[in-house]
Parts: sequence; C-alpha cells; structure tokens
Amino acid sequence: MKEIKTITCIGAGYVGGPTCSVIAQKCPGVNVHVVDLSQERIDAWNSDSLPIYEPGLKEVVEETRGKNLFFSTKIDEAINEADLIFISVNTPTKNFGLGKGRAPDLKYIESAARNIANVARENKIVVEKSTVPVKAAESISRILKCNRKAGIRYQVLSNPEFLAEGTAIKDLLNPDRILIGGEQTPEGKEAVDALASIYAQWIDDERIIKTNTWSSELSKLAANAFLAQRVSSINSISAVCEATGADVDEVAKAIGLDNRIGKKFLKAGVGFGGSCFQKDVLNLVYLCEALNLSEVGAYWHQVISMNEYQKKRFASLIVKCLFNTVTGKKISILGFAFKKDTGDTRESPAIYVTKYLLEEGAKISIYDPKVKAKQIMMDLTDPQLGLDPEKVHKLVTIEKDPYECCQKSHAFAVCTEWNEFQELDYARIYQSMLKPAFAFDGRLILDHDKLVRIGFQVEAIGKCVHSLPDSPMESGINDIFGKQLLARNRS
Ligand code: NAI
Repeated sequence: MKEIKTITCIGAGYVGGPTCSVIAQKCPGVNVHVVDLSQERIDAWNSDSLPIYEPGLKEVVEETRGKNLFFSTKIDEAINEADLIFISVNTPTKNFGLGKGRAPDLKYIESAARNIANVARENKIVVEKSTVPVKAAESISRILKCNRKAGIRYQVLSNPEFLAEGTAIKDLLNPDRILIGGEQTPEGKEAVDALASIYAQWIDDERIIKTNTWSSELSKLAANAFLAQRVSSINSISAVCEATGADVDEVAKAIGLDNRIGKKFLKAGVGFGGSCFQKDVLNLVYLCEALNLSEVGAYWHQVISMNEYQKKRFASLIVKCLFNTVTGKKISILGFAFKKDTGDTRESPAIYVTKYLLEEGAKISIYDPKVKAKQIMMDLTDPQLGLDPEKVHKLVTIEKDPYECCQKSHAFAVCTEWNEFQELDYARIYQSMLKPAFAFDGRLILDHDKLVRIGFQVEAIGKCVHSLPDSPMESGINDIFGKQLLARNRS
C-alpha cells in the first residue's frame, strides 16, 4: 500500500476547509493543500478573518497553516503534488434545464475531474467528498479514464462527509463513523486502506467503515434524508399540538425516551435549513424517479413539503396574530443563520419567513450575531427568491444590536437558536416595543412564562402559551364532544 504523503483538496468551502485543517493537525507527516478557484476565499483562509465561522476552527488553522496546511489557487500544481485528491466542491440543486429543482448540478464535480485528468502526471487516488448521487463515482472514473495521460491509473473512492455546521471541528475530531467506499478489486481495496490509514491516525478502526462505492454514496443521501425526516416529523406533530393544546416539547420528550426512537433531532422549530438537507432529499427523490421508484420518491418529497408548510405556517401565524395585517408594521427577526454557531444562511428558514412577511408589506429589521449585512441583502435580493430588490432595500434594515433591532417594533420572531437570545433583557425590549408586544419563538428557546409575566403575548411553535386575555388567537373552537378547546387553530 502506497503511503499518503501529500493530500490536495479541491474546494475550500465549509467542508474542504475544516476537514483538511483537522487532517493537517492530526497527521503532521502529511502535507495538505486546499485549493479553490476563488481568490477571495483563499485570501480569507490565509488571513486572520477566516471565510467561515466554526467554533474551534481558527485555533486549528493557526496551529497548522504554513507548516503542513496550505491554502492556494494553484490548483494544477497541487493536483500534481498529491497522492490523494479530495473533491469537495459544491453540488447545488439545478435551477434550470433537465431535473430543475431536484437534480444536483454536477458541473463543478465534472470540471474538477477534468482538471485532474488534464494535469496529473502520476497515479492518483481521487476521493468524492462532496455529496453526490449514487453512481457519480462511475462518471468521475469514466472522465478520468477517457482523458488520462498514458500509463496513469486512478482509483475513485467515495468518502462522504457527515460533519454538521456549528459543530464541524468537534464532529471531525470525534466522528460517529468514517465511511469509505471503493471498488471491490485488489487495487480498489488498497486505495480504501490508504485513505483509512489517514483517518486511523486519530479514529479507532471500529468507526472506520469500508463498503462498496454505491453503498457509501447512497448512505450519505439516506442519512440526510432520515435526519430531515425526523425534523419534519416532529414539526408535523407541532401543528397538531397547537390545534389541540398538547405541548410539543413534552411530546418529544415522551417519545424520545423510547430507546428505539431516541432523543436527538426531535426539536420542533420553524423548519430545517442549510445547504444539505433539502438538496440531498431532492437528490434522493430525483434518483428514485429516475429509477422508476415514484412512490419512494413521493414519500421522501413529503419531507420537503412539510418543511415548506412549517415555514409558511410560522409566517402566517405572525400575520394572523398581528390582527391579520402586517402592512407597514415593523417586525424584528432575531437570527438569520440557518442554525446557531454558524454564519451560513443557505436555505435558512429566516429567509423565507422574511420573504413572506415582506410580501405582506411588513417592515423588517434583522439582527444576527454572525451573519454579515451584505450576506443578508444578497440572500433577500437573490433572483431565485423572487422579491423585488427595490422593495427589499426599502423595507429591510439590518442592525448590529438586538435591542436596536426590536426598538418600536410590533413583534419579534426568533428564527435561529443562538444562545445569546436566551440572555437578552426582555423587559428592556418590551419597554421599547409597540403594544401589544408580540414574541414569536420559532426555535423554542425562550422562557415563555417569563415573557408573559413581562407583558408579551407569546406564540411558540407547537405550544399554546398563555397570553393576554384579549388575545386575538383565542378562537374558542369546539372539540368532538362539544367542549371548548383551550387551543387555538393556527393553520
Ligand atoms: P461550498 O460552496 O462552501 O464550497 C465549495 C467550494 O468549491 C467553493 O469555494 C468553490 O469556489 C469551489 N469550487 C467549485 N468548483 C471548483 C473547481 N473546479 N476547482 C476548484 N474549486 C472549486 O460547499 P460546501 O458546503 O463545502 O459543500 C461541499 C460539498 O460537501 C457539497 O457536495 C455538500 O453537499 C457536501 N457537504 C456539505 C456539508 C456542509 O455542512 N456544508 C456537510 C456534508 C457534506
């Protein structure tokens, strides 16, 4: 088995950057080059202000950068030096042509593979780190074989990444498992072992799983589909809770204590976001449809539909509570990142909640501790979102301070579960808001009783929080026995 001395990673994003930083830290004998087309991104990796925020990342980069970790745009050079190449480029959902809105766009993967074939002068192990459809390795292999220089051999492996943003460094240092798929040939197995030997420098053998390539590719899509499904499942139950008076946190605890179900990933909220869940479920749906498994595709597509419903439901609840009109009213959005401890806003529910409220004519004020104002404006004026950029600039303000953000607003809505939102001085916020002052907890992180005592009308996903007696939501619907339900019908 050839020892891996130099690794190159094509793509210096949320996956490539942190993954390679940890490999460099744990394998001091290996030189790691992270390359990207974007000079701006590479410059940021080489600066004090890294392009992404992840707890613990800065420390790892500072320890290794310039020693055995290098960031550059010299892609061809880095390909040639490498024994093993990770392809860690983006695989977004296609927004045009065949498979629009479902299929992953593999143009970046293809261009990385062609680049390798064009410049490599020695044998290489090429590893799919990006999330790809099943059989993508076959396409990469074909591109490499059809374009290779004489005598050069490639082994293509699948090694999907399971890190979660916000806990990336922790996940990379102590992963639940490492999955490596390869060809079931002596050369394929040798390549799998070579990559496994890198991870074995800090991860026990039992957690390094070796499979055939297709199992590995499918496992990544299936894992994300299962995770997204859990979120959509508990969110669907949250709607039932609101309509009946059950409390979704109590229900989640009761069902999660069953060992077969487990406690994790049962937190109801305004919906899942991030660059992966939606894209990967859609990828699976597209695959099923292409394989003539339309019922399976429809089953998984429902996970996405439920997520859409949840985001819309939350925005509608805001409109409904504010006396059925938000036109000209200031509403404060607390949190714009798709989850806490990251500055990533891709597919963030906050984008869609803001969009629905803007369409209703609300004035929106946004605060997030890590997302830059420029990013928020880029998200809201993205042509794919369909908002009029002029309207966005007129109606949206971005604040650097949560108290400023809530000043003179009719309502605030928590869209990201940042810890600091639990520590805010809500009495001060209440004083500065218009009355009645509404608090919408889309992440179930606030102390609702305390907010009610301060004077807020509190609305939370999956709960019927007691509020002012003249609440517009106390609709007094009857249950099947004719008794009045306490709960409010929010759908
Ligand atoms: P990203 O968009 O942050 O980074 C991708 C980078 O690749 C960009 O900087 C882009 O400029 C670069 N790139 C594209 N084509 C290139 C080429 N031909 N040569 C050189 N550089 C090129 O994407 P992210 O989030 O790092 O995701 C990468 C892959 O990993 C995706 O397939 C994603 O589904 C998967 N993944 C992402 C996770 C996440 O939490 N973000 C977790 C697990 C997997």
